[in-house]
Amino acid sequence: MFRLLRQLDIAPDASQRVMATAIGVSLGRLNALLRAATDTGLVNVSDRDGPDKRARFAYAITSRGGAEKNRLTEKFLARKFAEYDALHAELTGTTTGLNPLKSRTKLMQTNLAPIPELFVSYESAQKLKAEAADLVSHDLTARQICDLELLMNGGFNPLKGFLTQEDYNGVVDNMRLADGTLWPIPINLDVSEAYADKIEVGQDIALRDQEGVILATMTVTDKWEPNKAHEAEKVFGADDDAHPAVNFLHNQAGKIYLGGPVTGIQQPVHYDFRGKRNTPNELRAFFRKMGWRKVVAFQTRNPLHRAHQELTFRAAKEAQANLLIHPVVGLTKPGDVDHFTRVRCYEAVLDQYPASTTSMSLLNLAMRMAGPREAVWHGLIRKNHGCTHFIVGRDHAGPGNNSKGEDFYGPYEAHDLFREHQEEMGIEMVDFKHMVWVAERAQYEAIDEIEDRGNVTILNISGTELRRRLSEGLEIPEWFSFPEVVKELRRTKPPRAKQGFTVFFTGFSGSGKSTIANALMVKLMEMGGRPVTLLDGDIVRKNLSSELGFSKEHRDLNIRRIGYVASEITKNGGIAICAPIAPYAATRRAVREDVEAFGAFIEIHVATSIEECEKRDRKGLYKLAREGKIKEFTGISDPYDVPQTPELSVQTENIDVDNCAHQVILKLESMGLIAAN
Ligand code: PPS
Repeated sequence: MFRLLRQLDIAPDASQRVMATAIGVSLGRLNALLRAATDTGLVNVSDRDGPDKRARFAYAITSRGGAEKNRLTEKFLARKFAEYDALHAELTGTTTGLNPLKSRTKLMQTNLAPIPELFVSYESAQKLKAEAADLVSHDLTARQICDLELLMNGGFNPLKGFLTQEDYNGVVDNMRLADGTLWPIPINLDVSEAYADKIEVGQDIALRDQEGVILATMTVTDKWEPNKAHEAEKVFGADDDAHPAVNFLHNQAGKIYLGGPVTGIQQPVHYDFRGKRNTPNELRAFFRKMGWRKVVAFQTRNPLHRAHQELTFRAAKEAQANLLIHPVVGLTKPGDVDHFTRVRCYEAVLDQYPASTTSMSLLNLAMRMAGPREAVWHGLIRKNHGCTHFIVGRDHAGPGNNSKGEDFYGPYEAHDLFREHQEEMGIEMVDFKHMVWVAERAQYEAIDEIEDRGNVTILNISGTELRRRLSEGLEIPEWFSFPEVVKELRRTKPPRAKQGFTVFFTGFSGSGKSTIANALMVKLMEMGGRPVTLLDGDIVRKNLSSELGFSKEHRDLNIRRIGYVASEITKNGGIAICAPIAPYAATRRAVREDVEAFGAFIEIHVATSIEECEKRDRKGLYKLAREGKIKEFTGISDPYDVPQTPELSVQTENIDVDNCAHQVILKLESMGLIAAN
């Protein structure tokens, strides 16, 4: 009975099949247990609307059932403690003196007591895993793996799975689940239309990681097509693709959402920094052990410099708390410093804090950059990890500028929203102080607290300025950062003239892309220093994409493949020159993001007009396209999104190829990518 009640508590909507396996009984025994539980008022049973027989009944644990579950837990633990004590006495002649957990849990502060996870026991997980092999699988995306990990380990408590439609609507419109609980960010299992068509409501599916390992099962209780424009407006404040999460929503996320409870089988495997990743319960246990009653968390996706060290230390002092540096190592903003480098930097900074006041743990969160809502979300996640205080920064989790070049959110909107909800959240906000270096006093001070501002020299280096200094190999002063951190950053990001990069030509067929790209390649090879690879449209179609045609889907796939190869070349310090038509802006942007994770991306619009290309008609294709003999021909019967903000636009009419290639070389020089002679 205990196992049934526990399982109903973590996954009330799971199918009977999953329930039976999770608690290790046959379907017949499960039914007998459910009947007994219903008869004694521990569980309520109700008819569910809908045609699906497998999901016909809904079971809900009653408050009596909840109390019974707690009583049985304590009884079970007390028995185990007694057995352990007896064994200890037999072996050592003394008792352990450990109290039954019953009294220990009650003595624990709420932020330190264990929180519910969605995992089943090891034995049940093995059975469930074997059974799940027969289920329809869903291969999780990188973002979904992050979400699932935090769902299963309690980081997203009180969520029990991917949001149902009712919960989703509440979260999008009012930041609340259907039962009124505060939750600001939708956590959805987005899938393609083709996949969704195969899934019926009531069905169990297996959730697998990218190597095919089954991490969980999910009973699909809801399936719907969301209004993504509405989600973007409400959650991110604008339906503007310049926002990374809105771009993701429209151009990468699947069209259909599935919702339903998740039964956890195993944590996603991480091969990096294993010892530095902690579940909420592991952190809570650590705080208990260390006697940390108050803990202030610092969220970050950037390397820490002296100003951060100063402000976090002050925040901890102000709150009279210990400090948890809690960096995000899941998905952050495209273009951020990779987490491997960051973690090495954090370790260098940790030595700068007074011993045993501060600890660091890595959080596998997929950020959305949702500003104010994200701040509230971050707070709830940190509360689940046992923290009592949370530092909210200026423009917290800000996504950068919108398509009009303005900020998406006001700099203190996150503070306001957090403050409004902090009591309900059960975690207190600590304001981020903007710290600056006061040269005369050789120390960091909060800018608002400097009274003699007019008489002292105030120094600060912005993120953009730091990136410029790093990319140009310029000095980074000691007052700004720690030598170990700078060394680490320089190691990963050598000056731009030594980094790899991608030149991406786009334009109509016959615009002159390939000719200019060839000339550029030769010029760069003549300069030497880095290997140069040309990924011309025709070459790629022959070697990488020979099976593809010219539908939107196939063109996207073709360009994403080019982007993948270019990003690998860039990562390894080479120069990739790409020259496909690449007609769609969203796909070009996705490739830009892939490449910019490792180096510069220079988009060059070869702006030859369609009339001129048709007049030239080098390959005779325009004629065939006009006659309808070639379908979906770019510029004739298929669209071309003109690049709005390319790094360079070249005109080819009446200008020779050498001159066009030279314009590109000048652009690369001005960006510091090739050293001027
Ligand atoms: S795309 O859209 O970026 O995937 O196209 P790409 O790989 O660059 O391939 C373009 C070359 O394929 C030939 N071709 C067509 N182009 C456009 N539309 C249609 N329907 C089509 N069918 C064949 C054409 O020769 C293009 O070569 P370039 O070098 O651009 O002239």
